[in-house]
Amino acid sequence: MILSDVLLLSLVISSSSSSSSSARSPHLPIDIVVGLPHEEGDRGKNPFLLTLAKSKPVFDVALEDVYHYKILPRGALKVTFENSALSDAVGPQKMIEHYCNKTVDAIMGLPYVYALAPIARISKFWGRGVPVFTTTALVDELGDRNEFPLLTRMMGSYKSLGKLVTRIAERFEWQHYFFMFNDEVARGPRNKGRSECYFSLSAIKNLIMNNKTSTWNVKMFSEFEANREQYRILLSEASVMSNCKFLEF
Ligand SMILES: *[C@@H]1O[C@H](CO)[C@@H](O)[C@H](O)[C@H]1NC(C)=O
Ligand SMILES: *[C@@H]1O[C@H](CO)[C@@H](O)[C@H](O)[C@H]1NC(C)=O
Repeated sequence: MILSDVLLLSLVISSSSSSSSSARSPHLPIDIVVGLPHEEGDRGKNPFLLTLAKSKPVFDVALEDVYHYKILPRGALKVTFENSALSDAVGPQKMIEHYCNKTVDAIMGLPYVYALAPIARISKFWGRGVPVFTTTALVDELGDRNEFPLLTRMMGSYKSLGKLVTRIAERFEWQHYFFMFNDEVARGPRNKGRSECYFSLSAIKNLIMNNKTSTWNVKMFSEFEANREQYRILLSEASVMSNCKFLEF
């Protein structure tokens, strides 16, 4: 079970980092606060549709392993689940409450990237710093070590995707890019975060920007609205503006 291995690994990392940060014996139990929503919500806010119900068994297995392999003594980890409600107000607020009453040594979850970002920014000021772990948040911008020093993204980031695409493009000497993607902004300004499609392509764009010989164009559509005719127009635009190769992610 890959996910449980990943979690197990991160639990070990978090425990070793908090134990090594104190010269004396570590204070146990280590408080891990997991912020996840009750409901899946929409993919805009929860791109991988994580929920408390889906994640709890994974934590159960990870904890069993930690104790079974005697990585830490039984009871050394205390996992508290909070409903982050996919809100950039509720999620951070729950974490801050735990900071205020001194019941957080590590934070996990917060799949809504706009809730994760502020916590990942400020957690370095909490005591000796509180590490933040996530299996989502692949957004390129969160890779900035100065801004998000204690954030660990266990599944990597879209930067790897960007590297892959630029390597392929170099190999075939493609220099004209056409980014065509789903984003609700296409339906006019709305009070919503950018789509996962936007974030993944933006990581590619951040890399090709370094190459003066590359050019790119951007067209957005809303997957809830676009019809066959609009796709036809977009694709024919793409075919004249780009190198006429179609990549789908
Ligand atoms: C700390 O805050 C959390 C979140 O509000 C709450 O659930 C918990 O009961 C509090 N713990 C203590 C010891 O006050
Ligand atoms: C820019 O892209 C071209 C074509 O893909 C490639 O040959 C060249 O090495 C790139 N230049 C830089 C500075 O990456």
